[in-house]
Amino acid sequence: MKRIAALLVLSGIGAAACAAEAEVAALPGVLYHEPYRPQFHFSPPQQWMNDPNGLVYAAGEYHLFYQYNPYANKWGPMHWGHAVSRDMVRWENLPIALYPDRNGTIFSGSAVLDAANTSGFGTKGRAPLVAMFTYHDHLSKNLGRTGFQSQGLAFSLDRGRNWTKYPGNPVLTSPAIRDFRDPKVFWYAPAREWIVALAVADHIAFYSSPNLKRWTHESDFGQEWGAHGGVWECPDLFDATVEGTSVKKWVLLVSINPGGPNGGSATQYFSGDFDGHRFTPEGGRPARPQSTAQWLDYGTDDYAGSTWSGAAPHDGRQRFIGWMNNWLYGTSVPTERWRSAMTVPRELKLVQTGRGLELHSTPVRELDALRTTSLPIAAQSGARVMDLTGLAGAKGGKLELDLNLDLRDADVVDLCFANARGESTVFRVDRHEGKYVLDRSASGAVAFSSGFTAPQVAPIPDSGRMLQLRVYVDHSSLEIFLNEGETVFTALVFPSAPYDRVSLRADRGIDLSAGTIHELRSIWE
Ligand code: FRU
Repeated sequence: MKRIAALLVLSGIGAAACAAEAEVAALPGVLYHEPYRPQFHFSPPQQWMNDPNGLVYAAGEYHLFYQYNPYANKWGPMHWGHAVSRDMVRWENLPIALYPDRNGTIFSGSAVLDAANTSGFGTKGRAPLVAMFTYHDHLSKNLGRTGFQSQGLAFSLDRGRNWTKYPGNPVLTSPAIRDFRDPKVFWYAPAREWIVALAVADHIAFYSSPNLKRWTHESDFGQEWGAHGGVWECPDLFDATVEGTSVKKWVLLVSINPGGPNGGSATQYFSGDFDGHRFTPEGGRPARPQSTAQWLDYGTDDYAGSTWSGAAPHDGRQRFIGWMNNWLYGTSVPTERWRSAMTVPRELKLVQTGRGLELHSTPVRELDALRTTSLPIAAQSGARVMDLTGLAGAKGGKLELDLNLDLRDADVVDLCFANARGESTVFRVDRHEGKYVLDRSASGAVAFSSGFTAPQVAPIPDSGRMLQLRVYVDHSSLEIFLNEGETVFTALVFPSAPYDRVSLRADRGIDLSAGTIHELRSIWE
């Protein structure tokens, strides 16, 4: 309370936000029980959220900062909201970490532990957490100027609880450019320097720095690569070992809005090499036609995602989380107290396939702790219809589904998620057409945006008979991971009651060799 009072005195802006926090604290029993509220995905207590920001693991905690408007359930003056977790699954909400200042509101960015205190922000024995973010100067933008986006720094010496802005802000400006944002910073050990990847309209710019404050432009990548149906945003660059080998490659994630494969915003990726100066895409081919862009997720609701910096001991995983929404309709989805959730946390794996290097996503193993009851589904042979929840005796609308199918000669297989009110979402495997299709046209509330009901389509990479599926069903989302994350669909749905019935229907007999439905617990209880 003392802290809240101090903040109230310090800032008029902070006052309203803190009053809102206090109001939320007085809502036990209501908060996180509202219609559509995700039960095992992170969502803010109230108001608007977009991109995950500042993902850093330090002192046993995963930090999740996020684009946050504390005043409304729509996008507005951006702050960094904050939550921490020991496992990326159960979250503790913390007060707002970064407020706007005279340089602008606080757009997306990243955070690192500056272990060697290169920035000088640390004190003896205390390494600083340093956040690098974009300042967005609305006033300057409204006056028609360019250069209204710049990069700033803030640091914390108390595990991310309190932040101090660097008085020398901004540290990186570009007077002639409008879109200049979303710094993803990391320590490049071979050269003992920091590298930042920055989205600059239609490409990614790389800069280097000895101390996070002074930046030198190194190179640009992307104008002739990948998809360009919209502005490039929120890059991430990290190294990864190709699964089953000792080969190291680099992966560049680039979010794009609009221009996604199924409308609105989406995230593409490139694999290749990075030498501290320049990113060279795999094979060093010249211009690659846009149509061959590689997509992290074919569902419409996984955007602006990023990986956590600072690995836990003995943990070489690339741990990822994305904003589970789409700019196409994000501000009008039918939730009230809050808007938007994050995806489940995922591990990104670089896999050598016959088609080249691919980035596959699988749910992190920490999610297994959500399972309350694991119900096996007896093997089925030659069936055309299977009531999976009935066979398992599963109840409730928080489910994880694990299935191994032999599709035999079936051309079309539908996996249907439904409730007793006749609302349903159908995931179709169409081997005849060589595509997966997610249809949410009858999923529940859909009228809030005309773009919401368009079918979501992905090519079936290799139309074999065997299909492995893992699906997470929460109150307002479906996340479908096919063949160990080779193809992923993340999709919002707004049924008036949670989906508690899952069934399979095929045009010819198929086999279920192994299946389990796990009932899941809420992370908010
Ligand atoms: C991506 C994005 C970023 C920007 C932020 C603003 O969703 O547009 O490029 O920093 O959202 O909230």
